[in-house]
Amino acid sequence: MRRHSLAVLPGDGVGPEVIDAALAVLDAAQERFGFATDRVEVPLGADHYLATGQLLTDDVTATLREQDAILFGAIGSPKVAPGILEHGIILALRGAMKQAINLRPVRLYPGVPTPIAGLTPERCDLVIVRENTEGSYVARGSTVHAGTPAQVAVQESINTWYAVERAVDFAYRLASARRKKLTLCHKTNVLVEAGKLWLAVMEQVGERYPDVEQDYVHVDAMCMHLPVSPERFDVVVTDNLFGDIVTDLGAVLQGGLGVAASGNLNLVGTHPSMFEPIHGSAPDIAGKGWANPAGACLSMAMMLGHLGEGQAAAAVEAATTAVLAELPALAGADMGANTSELGQRIASRLRDDSAPPVKDSLMSDLATVMTGLRS
Ligand code: IPM
Ligand code: MG
Repeated sequence: MRRHSLAVLPGDGVGPEVIDAALAVLDAAQERFGFATDRVEVPLGADHYLATGQLLTDDVTATLREQDAILFGAIGSPKVAPGILEHGIILALRGAMKQAINLRPVRLYPGVPTPIAGLTPERCDLVIVRENTEGSYVARGSTVHAGTPAQVAVQESINTWYAVERAVDFAYRLASARRKKLTLCHKTNVLVEAGKLWLAVMEQVGERYPDVEQDYVHVDAMCMHLPVSPERFDVVVTDNLFGDIVTDLGAVLQGGLGVAASGNLNLVGTHPSMFEPIHGSAPDIAGKGWANPAGACLSMAMMLGHLGEGQAAAAVEAATTAVLAELPALAGADMGANTSELGQRIASRLRDDSAPPVKDSLMSDLATVMTGLRS
């Protein structure tokens, strides 16, 4: 039987709830498609930090490195000062596992309510490729005269040809497998130095992909176009911070943060990739069963695609989106079922092999590109 090793990091707040639901769905996918996973749970997060003082240790890094993939819930807590867990765990993980890009599809699935009036699934199917290792996320900078009116803060942004090129090359490859259009999203009119580098990389790498049309939008204009005319985008490549911001907006188009999925990809296969819903730990609703597990389930589907389980990926995507389409509300007390019941509902739909076959699976299409990369 095919076996995959998996590190599970439920994390904080609603993280454990959505991960439990996603694992129930994974169990059903394994039964139906005949593969197995060996799971090791890793207790990273706010409570573990408060109890032990530990963030991402060398031991945990070594354990994670041995796995085929990492499934991540959410990390963050009002009990810990901002920045500690973000830098000490999430960003540390993305860096330690050399997860060069963050792949964030923005797809409105049929029947799923969107707050954008008149938006249809046909018009909303794009993928954002976020550079995942540098830009303003490098944690470089300094403060002088802290706590006085003369305080000065310097926050640096680093852009290397190496990291930008690998992100842009992946984005071209993805575009070439899709509708053949790649848009660079940046702010080259103000961030002139970084902008020059990104534009030059786009142009140079673009020569290797003559079939892909190149386009450019400023990030502020992107925030205007995205809700109004998402159909103008196929693949969008962008820097770490812009990618963070525009993918939250993208999530709104597809029904909200509860639905949005992501994969932090190691493009060379030296370390495991990590799959996580875009939403955070939502401490205000933790324990209530109000979080939608769809983002976690779709991230898990992307993980299955990445592990070579393309059929299972497509089926999990189909079952999750079919259940989503039945919900009276996409999160909160009005969802009509709690987080765990939704996981069960998605799992039973998956076990029901009379369900119609999946025609068009984003997650298995992405997997084809991810797999192509490693071969
Ligand atoms: C995300 C989150 C993280 C980010 C935070 C929690 C560090 O917002 O995954 O989008 O900024 O990347
Ligand atoms: Mg974010």
